[in-house]
Amino acid sequence: MFRRLKKWIKSPQIAKTSIRCIVRSSDGQNILSQFETTSTKPLLQILREQQVDISSYCGGMCSCGTCMIKIVDGQSLTTPIQNREIAVLGFSKKDTHRLACQMRFQGTGTVTIELDNLYS
Ligand code: FES
Repeated sequence: MFRRLKKWIKSPQIAKTSIRCIVRSSDGQNILSQFETTSTKPLLQILREQQVDISSYCGGMCSCGTCMIKIVDGQSLTTPIQNREIAVLGFSKKDTHRLACQMRFQGTGTVTIELDNLYS
């Protein structure tokens, strides 16, 4: 039994991710960044690696809501939203917005997001 468990742990079945992400300003007029990623890290971390300085007062602990982003296109290429995230976002935004510290990419395609919470 432990041999099977060890083998499963060594080779987890993780779906491949290949995402082209377009980051726009909140009015949709300016493209702030475009990049391709295969990372399954939280979006907040990916944006920082891409030099997009997004606000995050709680440091990614899912409590402040300052890392909120709007998903314009590609919602199906993100991990499912969790109840904890909905509690911070509110029910009115749960279908269009996400917390960058909680959301990860999955699958292959293009995701367009809008930000209005940049450090300036
Ligand atoms: S950084 Fe605070 S909720 Fe995401």
